[in-house]
Amino acid sequence: MENNTVKVGLVGFGTIGGGVADILLNKKEEIRRKTGKAIELVKICDKDTASDRGVQIPDGILTDDLSEIINSPLDIVIELIGGLEPARTFVLNFLKAGKDVVTANKALVANHGPELFDEARRLGRTIAFEASVCGGIPILSSIASSLQANTIKSIDAICNGTSNFILSQMEGKGADYDGAVKEAQRLGYAEANPSMDVDGTDAVQKLTIMAQLAFGVKTDWKSIPRTGIDIVKSLDIRFARKLGKRIRLLATAKRVSGGVELKVSPTLVPETSPLAKVCDAFNAVQIIGDFVGPVFYQGLGAGRKPTASAVCSDVIDTALGRTRITFDALNLWGPGRESVPAVDPNQTSETAYLRLKVEDHPGVLAKTTGILGQHGVSISSLLQEADDDSSGANLIILTHEAPSGSLAAAIEEINSSSFVLEKTVKMSVRD
Ligand code: HSE
Repeated sequence: MENNTVKVGLVGFGTIGGGVADILLNKKEEIRRKTGKAIELVKICDKDTASDRGVQIPDGILTDDLSEIINSPLDIVIELIGGLEPARTFVLNFLKAGKDVVTANKALVANHGPELFDEARRLGRTIAFEASVCGGIPILSSIASSLQANTIKSIDAICNGTSNFILSQMEGKGADYDGAVKEAQRLGYAEANPSMDVDGTDAVQKLTIMAQLAFGVKTDWKSIPRTGIDIVKSLDIRFARKLGKRIRLLATAKRVSGGVELKVSPTLVPETSPLAKVCDAFNAVQIIGDFVGPVFYQGLGAGRKPTASAVCSDVIDTALGRTRITFDALNLWGPGRESVPAVDPNQTSETAYLRLKVEDHPGVLAKTTGILGQHGVSISSLLQEADDDSSGANLIILTHEAPSGSLAAAIEEINSSSFVLEKTVKMSVRD
């Protein structure tokens, strides 16, 4: 992009699109002063050309005809429609039409990264995607650039704002789960289908992208062990407190011998840890590098303004040629890129929090602990209380570190026992 004027098109004029238009139209002069580039938003495409997006746009730039984007002499197209199709086909068409692409679409990058990045390389184009992970937190550029001298040892991310918001509401206000989901949707944090937030899908897709950048891990996100916050009950929050912990949905990547361990799970973290202090819709990422040690990033991971901040930063980087340098150097999902394998989830080990609902009869506790013992799972503490909604009892068991395969086998055997009233819930525990 030699020219000092860079022409930009935007596809998808929803909550984030409105924020992006706000920045590109209203901060145009400031951006030109800082970068020397005149970045012009010249076309916006959306099926809905009538709704108010809270931003004044010049007459004639909003269209519902995608061919106006494809056929205009645009340098950069921003994809903000979300989801897999037609987003994938649109992005391929933008690349073919000679446009560089900026996207906030984590599902697209996590599912179709290899295909899209190969195609961009083949066509000599770039794709920038900072906004796809943790919204306003510049986490991808930190991993790819600022921390590049380090061998990354681990990543712990609170990367789903909706889940953190719900946990905070349950923790602080004893809130009702459905109300918290609706509020997260109203504030623009939640996905169109919020089950992808609360079942851990959103977090695992973001983890897949971070793991590709940090370790070169090429893995299908569906193969990563995933538990969402939809299993968390108020009683877990209460028991966690008794244990001096808070529950956070953690997406974790950890370098171990033979590869990288990947997991998304509600996790009991010590109440004094920085992760426990991340509340509401905030996201946070803790990275440990071999030279830098632990670094901690926190900020808003969703919503109109933080996400628009990341999208526009990618637009500016692309206009300035910075994206081209990192895109070529990173060779994401490309042949010859260093790639660390994801380890088999059953070959890992963990400390677990187990919640069982069992019949309150003599011998049930002995049978339960017996099954754990037979599978080599050692117990570090155990709490019991009567269940409010049944004649059964809730058993909370904290294990010592145990092989994940043994834990899974023990839970399966417990779940098939006649004294068990509900499927056993497992969360991870951090010391
Ligand atoms: N739905 C996501 C979240 C935001 O709640 O964090 C977009 O990635």
